[in-house]
Amino acid sequence: MRRFVTKRKQPSSLHYLCLKTEIAEGNSKVFSISSDKGIKQEVAVFNIGGNFYAISNVCAHKGGPLSQGILEKSIVTCPWHGWKYDVRNGKSPHRGGDSVNSFKIHSIRNKLYLDLIPSKLGTASYRPHKAYAELRDSVRNHLSHIDKDSIIQTDNKVHVLGISTTNTNDEIAPRKSTSERSLEFALDFAKNKLGANCHMIKLRNLKFRHCEGYYSKNAKACIFPCSISEIDKADQMLEVYERVILWSDVVLVSTPIRWGNASSLYYQMVQRMNCVQNQSVTNQQYLIRDKAAAFIITGGQDNVQHVAGEMLMFWSQLGFVFGKFPFVGWNRGWYAEDTENNYNNLISDHGASMRTDIMRTVKGAVEMSKLVKEKRYDEQIM
Ligand code: FES
Repeated sequence: MRRFVTKRKQPSSLHYLCLKTEIAEGNSKVFSISSDKGIKQEVAVFNIGGNFYAISNVCAHKGGPLSQGILEKSIVTCPWHGWKYDVRNGKSPHRGGDSVNSFKIHSIRNKLYLDLIPSKLGTASYRPHKAYAELRDSVRNHLSHIDKDSIIQTDNKVHVLGISTTNTNDEIAPRKSTSERSLEFALDFAKNKLGANCHMIKLRNLKFRHCEGYYSKNAKACIFPCSISEIDKADQMLEVYERVILWSDVVLVSTPIRWGNASSLYYQMVQRMNCVQNQSVTNQQYLIRDKAAAFIITGGQDNVQHVAGEMLMFWSQLGFVFGKFPFVGWNRGWYAEDTENNYNNLISDHGASMRTDIMRTVKGAVEMSKLVKEKRYDEQIM
């Protein structure tokens, strides 16, 4: 007798994924799927205790790959900055958190099919804290209004930002920092002789976290403004970003030499500025426009050239240009163990030539910043 088999009709939105056995328990697999209309989406499929669940693979925060996150019970943690989602429905386990699209999985015999029409659509309700959002928006405006007059600077003066990176503790152990006093001298000169508007940041007075290596997870996980400032409201790197990117025309950085290198605070700041440099690599967005940098490097003993080389390299990668004699360095030699006399040496007659050099360096940076600003140098070359 002839038997008629009625085939179960499958909805046209079903898309074959793989055999069940291809996703082990506790694991996930990502699928790149195009709809009939050619719209591509990445879907992550998870196996929890033999049940299969699918959500968008793209984190609602900055697009991190959820299939690569750590799975604990039904919660997956984004490998980039730690947002969490329940893979059963795409929802955040935190009240009010963002969710991602979730999809139904059909298990037919030993095969898995995905319903391309999301069973639940993701929602976005997250807003970063006010200071973070303001800086992000101001920088966006700054970049898009680049050929109009600056929206940040309200005077016609050259803005010189000094960043003192010494960690000398002048509260419990008063001692004049040579690098900081040299920077004060430089800013006084810029203000009184060159008519600049000056501002100094003392890094030791800011509370900010170390770089946590988001770049090492993925270049796109290192965003601007830094995700640490987004996560941690108390993080004060925002002040550095704002002054360097929006306010300054010239950045003067001073550092002592510590075991042959710039200060540890300098590196703490520099590593947090990776997100500024990274924008040019990942988004072709050049945050630093028409600005000059210069450096003041002082030490009891040696290694001015090495420190200058590293500083020039980093700030050039941010997009700064340099005037003539972009650094001034000073040390008293290998046998100068009496570092308490470094500052006295600076203000004595012996320091006269250093003061002349500081003035020359400041002048070089200020003049260069005027030139590049007037010529719209960055616009010409990018
Ligand atoms: S937490 Fe997922 S991209 Fe930031």
